[in-house]
Amino acid sequence: MISAADADGIQQGASLLRQGRLVAFPTETVYGLGADATDDKAVAAIYAAKDRPDFNPLIVHFTDMDAAAEAVVFDDRAKRVAHAFWPGALTLVLPRTKTCPISLLTSAGLNTLAVRVPSQPVAQALFRAAGLPVAAPSANRSFSVSPTTAQHVIEDLSGRIDLILDGGPCPVGLESTVIDLSTPIPTLLRPGGIATEEIEAVTGPLAAAGEGAPKSPGMLSRHYAPCRPVRLNATAPRDGEAYLAFGPGFANATMNLSERGNLNEAAAAFFAMLRALDRNDFSGIAVAPIPERGLGRAINDRLRRAATQ
Ligand code: TXA
Ligand code: MG
Repeated sequence: MISAADADGIQQGASLLRQGRLVAFPTETVYGLGADATDDKAVAAIYAAKDRPDFNPLIVHFTDMDAAAEAVVFDDRAKRVAHAFWPGALTLVLPRTKTCPISLLTSAGLNTLAVRVPSQPVAQALFRAAGLPVAAPSANRSFSVSPTTAQHVIEDLSGRIDLILDGGPCPVGLESTVIDLSTPIPTLLRPGGIATEEIEAVTGPLAAAGEGAPKSPGMLSRHYAPCRPVRLNATAPRDGEAYLAFGPGFANATMNLSERGNLNEAAAAFFAMLRALDRNDFSGIAVAPIPERGLGRAINDRLRRAATQ
């Protein structure tokens, strides 16, 4: 069920993927729940294991851009972005090629596909050994926060999947940034592990996703909610609340995302701390203000979703 992410574990994972089974694996962002992206039944099994509403499309993972180019069309702009940020914590939504071998279920009815090349060595080794594109959402039940350790995956999916490769905690700790490059104006669908400012340095200004119906269903506000109420921009906890602080000088903190006020460190700790505080005997979780810059944008995005009940 759980295996170290050594050569044996990776071979076992690759052979399960080739048989259409489900394997959770580490990436630099969060743990993914992987299946053969070309196999409709395997992809359907992902939705079933996660209890995921079937309108929510999945990200397909590749070893490099050349492999991804069989599935989606890279124009010059997409090539520039891919060269700048892959392998890494960025997902690109692009038009499917005419001969795209990826299950239509992964696109959930759209004529686009979300693709990513992760940098995590275990993920790379697994894809190479399997010789397959791997569809993988975050390895949590729907409406639970994303897993950043193998233990989190066990808590959510134990008994529902075939193998978990334990590669230790995920260094980035937030999901990938998702941008839509299938339209003339590049659009930010989900802030994440690569700061928007860095991407805009390559693409120019990113449009915000439309206000009305979300183009990326992952933007549905309940996606990241823990069970207890979350209160944002709290300068102090109220009676019974856990207090999740950020920065130096919080004597009243239950936990601190980063005592030195470092946003990358905060991102890496974020989901694990939300989980820990959600499990304890608190009436709610009060969270200190997080600066709206760099990875702080992605943390605030997840916090706003968590606060929407
Ligand atoms: O870091 C990550 O991105 C992790 C690791 C495992 O790679 N994966 C992840 O996947 O967070 P998931 O399924 O939890 O989130 C995928 C996001 C969702 O918001 C989904 O709606 C959006 O990408 N998405 C996928 N395909 C899309 C498409 N064709 N058009 C628009 N949005 C899409
Ligand atoms: Mg997810």
